Parts: sequence; structure tokens; C-alpha cells
Amino acid sequence: MNANIKWVEPAPKRENWFWPTDAMKERAWVSDPKIYEESWADPVAFWEKRAEEISWFKKWEVAYEEEPYKYRWFIGGKLNLSYNSLDRHVEAGKGDKVALIWEPEPTDEPNRIFTYKELLEEVSRLANALKELGIKKGDRVGIYLPMIPEAVIAMQAVVRIGAVPSVVFSAFSPESLRDRMLDCEAKVLITADGYWRRGKLINLKRNADKGIEGTKVEKVIVVKRAGLDVEMMPGRDVWYHEIVPKQSPECPPEEMDAEDLAFILYTSGTTGKPKGVMHTTGGYAVQVYTTAKWNFNLHDDDIFWCTADVGWITGHSYINYGPLMNGVTTVMYEGAPDTPDYGRMWATIQKHKVTVYYTAPTAIRMHVKWGDEWPAKYDLSSLRVLGTVGEPINEEAWLWYFKHIGGGRCPIIDTWWQTETGANCVEALPGIGPFIPTVAGRPFPGIRAKILDAGGQPVPAGEGGYLVLEPPFPPSLLRGLWGDPEKFKATYFGEYGPKYYFTKDGARMDEMGNIRITGRVDDVMNVAGHRLATAEVEDALSQHDAVSEVAVVSRPDEVKGEVPVAFVLLKAGYTPSDELKKELIKTVDVHIGPTARPAAIYFVEDVPKTRSGKIMRRILKALVRNEPIGDITTLRNPECVEELKKAVGYKG
Ligand code: WTA
Repeated sequence: MNANIKWVEPAPKRENWFWPTDAMKERAWVSDPKIYEESWADPVAFWEKRAEEISWFKKWEVAYEEEPYKYRWFIGGKLNLSYNSLDRHVEAGKGDKVALIWEPEPTDEPNRIFTYKELLEEVSRLANALKELGIKKGDRVGIYLPMIPEAVIAMQAVVRIGAVPSVVFSAFSPESLRDRMLDCEAKVLITADGYWRRGKLINLKRNADKGIEGTKVEKVIVVKRAGLDVEMMPGRDVWYHEIVPKQSPECPPEEMDAEDLAFILYTSGTTGKPKGVMHTTGGYAVQVYTTAKWNFNLHDDDIFWCTADVGWITGHSYINYGPLMNGVTTVMYEGAPDTPDYGRMWATIQKHKVTVYYTAPTAIRMHVKWGDEWPAKYDLSSLRVLGTVGEPINEEAWLWYFKHIGGGRCPIIDTWWQTETGANCVEALPGIGPFIPTVAGRPFPGIRAKILDAGGQPVPAGEGGYLVLEPPFPPSLLRGLWGDPEKFKATYFGEYGPKYYFTKDGARMDEMGNIRITGRVDDVMNVAGHRLATAEVEDALSQHDAVSEVAVVSRPDEVKGEVPVAFVLLKAGYTPSDELKKELIKTVDVHIGPTARPAAIYFVEDVPKTRSGKIMRRILKALVRNEPIGDITTLRNPECVEELKKAVGYKG
């Protein structure tokens, strides 16, 4: 690592800082900034107070304990995630309240709506079915489901009986499914026949069958969603509608220890082999509950829509557990944002009177490209809070979201966190602010974060460095990697030792303590001795009016060591030209300096992306270096790779 990061691009302009209005403050759970200093002075006391708001079968004895590479929260406490998501609301008389609204992709199909009571009963039935199949506490259950209510029901049912769900994104290839099922040794898989995507039926069962070949999966529960004619293997496969409805709608929740495993979720590291991130029950429950409540201002009348897929941590924490633990209504959409047209998301907000909308910057940029006229057709006045997650948001997309979706009325909560942190960690609180384009905000109350240089020293305000989390570690921080304790230590504590969790993100903090994430530091370049984040060059290029999206990777250079190379997607109305290339280079000169000038600019139609919308720079890097490209089956758009090969003259 190299300590000489210099962030030379300007800080967001003061006139683009927004502060909460009186109405926002009034609705907010916290509006006094004192909460920060108070909670950071004693995080354990802070989290204990938060933990009192959820339901425990038995209260914890010790709130926090730490030794090197091992930290535990709420030791001795007993609880259940499903009980906290469902039973406690039914017991409080809210059984008839709508818990889940499901919006299918085909517009001629009705919504499926579950009250808290109905959801609890369905979860309990599936939980009983799993017991009938021999699943016990601690067993792993694979979930390979599309965006249908059964995905939430399955996660809830598995944790209800103390088993461990591991959700695999439904568009992942059979190979990806197999890797994960083998690694966690799942006994049962819950899947579906198929699902709708962009007006087409996708056969999922076929992939599931291929994916579990050679694994320890003994039984498969298949949800009938698509009505596809699928093969059922006798003795192994059972239809959901044949095994679940006949079960009792009552299933007592397992009393889980706070540090019992809640779920495993695989995420990619720099090596390509997915890591099984382990989350435990108590700390995860408390932080997900609290961040959902405070960051999105959740009250009884909220309709919360998180557009992430259930296969990602965002779907786990903010479609399922976060909103349900808070007793609000969660919305789940099956399909694509451009089906039947570019207005689908806005039509859905209008239809269900969504109050909180939580999405990814990449999606926002797509909407910017599609044009203002689409949101303008719909009544979005029900919205109160907007959120973003997953990557740094550029200023233009932020301002567009604020104006065209939020009507200038809704705070944008730019939540920084990771699969590993389980829940939001850095953002601005809706009743406190400030909401600054491209800046996430302050660490959540009770979470201590710092920006360090490579040697482990804090950097001065305004300077770039590495984001770390400090003890007491956030309650929902991962407890380990499944089956690989050494990798856990090396990946997260290798650089700075056990006293700092290293996030692998570059960041800088202003004097007020607001943190701007500059991107993963596993994607940094060293250009003529200057350390430069690819994200920084991207940010500069995206300031040009013509640019809709941009990805920058580095290419080795004889003289400079490395040079940036840019892949640029143009907005409608712009055409590629040498003139435009010159202008873009000028933009980089202006925002960063000539050292950051891309050595090549490729105008392309698309760049490879994961299903969650992250640009796969690894593939772009391989393309410009003529290196093997590797597996592209997990991409959302593998077809774009051919076009890119031509553009860069890839020789393989
Ligand atoms: C990035 C997604 C900037 C970051 C919840 C992190 C962000 C990685 C933000 C984790 C944000 C997430 N601003 N960057 N608000 N949120 N990231 O595990 O680089 O899919 O390390 O978790 O996404 O991605 P993951």
C-alpha cells in the first residue's frame, strides 16, 4: 500500500449541501447531533439501549467482549430473528397490518399481499415442512429463489427453527450455486420452477438441478411460480404447494443464542473464490433493526421499498429483516425496471404509495439516461426518504435523484456498508443531515470509524486514506468466514492488526466528520508515482455532460508504471468523436490533473456488471491487458464482453 493519496478534486459545493427541514426533523427518531458524541463515547451503552427495543427470550449477561479476532455482543442473550420480525407484531395486535406487498413483473397479474399474521402462518408452515425433511438447528439450507414472497418466507422459516440459510442469487450460474452449496454443505435447497424477467420466463429449476449435482443436497423444495414444465426427481424433489399447505401454521421459534449463526452469505473477494460471510443473531438483529429505523425514519405508516435482490446483503437486511423487525410494510418487485417501460419503478411507487425508496446509484444513472419525462408522469408525493447503497454516487446522479424523485423534499441517505458489516455503518441521519452529494456522512451513532494512512496513522481532515472501523466493533460486523478462520484474519485484519477492521475502501473525512467514500482500494493505480483511485478518474469524467456512465481501469505502462483507461457510455444525443475525447481529457485535467489523463478512451454501449449493478473492473482490466477474462456467467450482461473485445482489440 502507498500512503501518498492526494485527493485533489474539489469538495462538493456548499450550495449543494442540504439540511433537514422542520418536517423531516419532526418525523425523525433523532434530530439532535449530540447523539454522535454521546454514543461514540460509550458505544456499548448505546447499543445496549437499542437492544432493549427488540424482543429477547432471555436478556444478555455481558454486552460486549473482545479478544484478538474475536468480538461478541449480547453474550448469554436468547432471541429469534423470525420472532422479532413477525410474532411480536402479531402479539402486539398488528396481525392484520400488511407486512409484504409483492409486485409481479407482468402487469396483468395481481399483487400478492400478506398481513403479519398471514406471513407468520406461512413462515411457520414452511418451517414445519423443513423439520419434516429432517432439518435441525445449525443445518444449512440453500435458498435459490427469484424475487417472490417465498424468498422472504424461506429466510424467515429457516432462521425460525435455528437452521442457517444461505441465499444464492437466482441469476447466478449452476457453477456458482454448486461452489456455495459444497462449501456450506447444505442439506436442503429451496428453489422455484422459474420467474419473469423482461417479459420472458426464465427456467430456474434446470440451473438448480445442475448446480446441486455432486453436493450434499438431499431434498429440494420447489415453488411453482412460472408454471413451467420442470422435471422433478422422485425421492429428492417436492413441490412447495404439496408439502407446505398441509403443515400446522404454528411453529415455536427456536431460542437462539445471541452469538449463534444467523446466516451465511457468499461474497466475492479479490481472489475470485467466494467467501462465506458469517453473521450471528443478536448483533445483526440489533443493528439492522436500529439502522432501518433511524436511517429511514420508519414509523407505523411507512411503505418501504428496497430494490435490491434478496440474494444480496441489502435484500437480506432491508427487504426482509430491517423493515419487518420495525413492523412496517415492505415492498418486493419481481422484475426489471424497464418492463413494460421506463416508468415501472415510478408507477409502482405511485400505486403502493411508497414512502421510502432505497436503490443503487447505478440504477439512478440508468434513469437519468432514460430521461426526466418518466418520473414526471407519476405522483411521487408519497415519498419521504430516499436511500442509495452499493457504490459512490456521483454528484449529477445525486442531484437528479434529489430533484426528480424526491421533489427536493426528501433527504438522500447515502448508506455506506458491506456484506461484512451486515447493516448500514456510515450515512447522514434524516433528522440531522447534512445531505451532501457524493458524501455518505458520519459513522452511525455507536460506530467508530477512522481514516488511516498505510502506516496506521490517522490522516488529517480532507486527506485521503483507508477507512477502518474501531472497537467496539459494530454489533452486526461479520464474525468470520465459513470454514476459513485464517482467511478471515488475513483479509480484514492483515494490514492493521486486530484493533482495526480494514474495510478495503478509500475515503476521506471533512472537518465535521463527514466521510466520502472514494472506492475500493483494491482498485487503485499508481500513475507516475501518483496514487490514484480509478473511482476518482471516473468521477472526473462523469462531470462531463456527455457521459452517462464510465469505468476506469489501469493498464501497465512502460514509463508511468500504470495508466488509466476509460470506458465511456454516452448519453442519448451524443456521438463518439475525437473532439469529444479531447474534451473528456480536458475534463480530467480540470478535475484531477494531467497525471490522471486516460491513455485511451473507448466509447462503448455497455460495461460488464454484476447482478447488483457493480461494474466488474476485473474484466475490463483483463481486456486492456490481453489477459484471460475468466468466468463471466455471473454477469448481468455477459453479451457486452464481445463488443468490448472488438473495441480494445483484445488478443486474448
Ligand atoms: C461499496 C453492499 C460508496 C464499498 C451493501 C463497499 C459504497 C462495497 C457504498 C460493499 C456507499 C457500499 N458509497 N461505496 N454508500 N455502499 N459501497 O458487500 O466499496 O456488495 O466496500 O455491500 O460497496 O459491497 P457489498
